[in-house]
Amino acid sequence: MKILLTGGSGYIGSVTTELLCDDGHAVTVFDNLERGHREAVDPRARLIVGDLRDPQPIRDALRDLLPDAVVHFAAYALVGESMQEPLKYFENNVGGGLHLLDAMLRTGVKKIIFSSTCATYGQPDVLPMTEALPQRPTNPYGESKLMFETALRWEQARRGIQPTFLRYFNACGATEKYGEDHEPETHLIPNVLKVALGQAQAVPVFGDDYATPDGTCIRDYIHIVDLARAHILALEKDVAGPFNLGTGTGFSVRQVIEACREVTGHPIPADVSPRRPGDPAGLVAGADKAKDVLGWKPRYPDLKTIVQHAWNWHRAHPRGYGKK
Ligand code: UFG
Repeated sequence: MKILLTGGSGYIGSVTTELLCDDGHAVTVFDNLERGHREAVDPRARLIVGDLRDPQPIRDALRDLLPDAVVHFAAYALVGESMQEPLKYFENNVGGGLHLLDAMLRTGVKKIIFSSTCATYGQPDVLPMTEALPQRPTNPYGESKLMFETALRWEQARRGIQPTFLRYFNACGATEKYGEDHEPETHLIPNVLKVALGQAQAVPVFGDDYATPDGTCIRDYIHIVDLARAHILALEKDVAGPFNLGTGTGFSVRQVIEACREVTGHPIPADVSPRRPGDPAGLVAGADKAKDVLGWKPRYPDLKTIVQHAWNWHRAHPRGYGKK
């Protein structure tokens, strides 16, 4: 297949590009390189440096390429930042997405796999979370992803766009080549591993008084390779609509830190800190639909394997991309 993939220099986009190239697909990455890394773009893919907030470059790219499908990752993805600067999130994640959608409609490209999030559900009343839950985002990041889902849904009804929404839970892990390098880094596993690398004294535990077995928040950690494979399955199949992507098992912050201690052999001190505003106590996927419809089954549901892969990558790239 000929694929146009936006955001291929980011964490999930880079690994999806790698796996698509491994499978022999022709990938063109469209990316502004603002928060990603040029080194994270698989050299087998073609790179177009462009920004979705400008309507023309994506129109040109789609017109020249006429891909079989679009895979859309490019977006801002920090919940905390979105609370501080909502407009920035709507401009980029919604505005940029609409330019992409408009370009698809102009060029007759119908199929799009959209990188969505469990943050579109907000605080769930029940666990595990299925696709049938109401979507009530509690931050502009989740809202911006929901807004673009909505736009796609309306154009599905009107002009035959074929959108698949992949709602990720907590992406983590790495391949040998590509891993997680955010600035600033806010995610749990890379921050815990920074302590093992000697780059931080201790990891903050944001709250230990939640109504969970050990008092810390529970999340569903899904390996980046499993996420990437779900995109490939969605591309290969004649499907549309939402799919939750998680393992269906939750781990607490303390369990994640313990797994990191076991993998790294480092004591990794942890300091209990105040709760981080907006953190739900527990988010766990009900991912049966992805299994039943896409035939998706996570290969790496084991937390220690996930941490081991992340650790391998961070040890090889202690300062991130291009800074050995
Ligand atoms: N945490 C810590 N210490 C840290 C970092 C995180 O205790 O140094 C805790 C958080 O409070 C949370 C858990 O670890 O309870 C996981 O936090 P992450 O920041 O790794 O991930 P989130 O669950 O907050 O966010 C993820 C994605 C978002 C997505 C969100 C959906 O990164 O893009 O899930 O809720 F929107």
